[in-house]
Amino acid sequence: MKTLCLWLMPVLILLLLGLKQVESKKYQRCELTHVLVEKYNFDKSFISNWICLVEHESELNTSKITNMENKSKNYGLFQINSRGYCTEGKKGGQCNKKCEDFSNDDIGDDIACARMIQEREGFKYWKGWERSCRNQQNLPNLRVLCNLRSQSPSRSARGFITG
Ligand SMILES: *[C@@H]1O[C@H](CO)[C@@H](O)[C@H](O)[C@H]1NC(C)=O
Ligand SMILES: *[C@@H]1O[C@H](CO)[C@@H](O)[C@H](O)[C@H]1NC(C)=O
Repeated sequence: MKTLCLWLMPVLILLLLGLKQVESKKYQRCELTHVLVEKYNFDKSFISNWICLVEHESELNTSKITNMENKSKNYGLFQINSRGYCTEGKKGGQCNKKCEDFSNDDIGDDIACARMIQEREGFKYWKGWERSCRNQQNLPNLRVLCNLRSQSPSRSARGFITG
């Protein structure tokens, strides 16, 4: 019995550590819509473009990593490519980020970098957007589907003048 415990403890500890390291999250469409609008203040006029691109790039999976044909990799929710805006293994690129940090469930850094990419290159940086979202008729109507109000509730709740 005693030896069994001695074996079990390290196994259990390793299992727990393993679970903690996964840190991935698969969002639901409306959940991410509300997070982007209410927590990160995304402009509602473009939110359906962002959601459409994330759906086609990562299927809303924060830990997705894709190997590209040219040996580069795309990381995370926004599938940010390892050549240009981040570098593998250490901070770098135009966003000064480690690419691996884009594949955990903390999406704040991904968002900051994706916004910078969009400002510099537009949505066409993303092949998934180009392929499936450029035609505006394909964009989801999130106002209806996700009950997105025209005034962000968190803003008015915090007392901003919204009129
Ligand atoms: C998310 O992506 C990771 C890495 O590609 C994969 O292991 C995991 O199964 C995916 N999660 C879901 C829910 O699809
Ligand atoms: C590799 O392919 C990706 C995705 O198409 C692209 O963003 C990146 O610039 C390419 N890198 C090089 C060095 O060609």
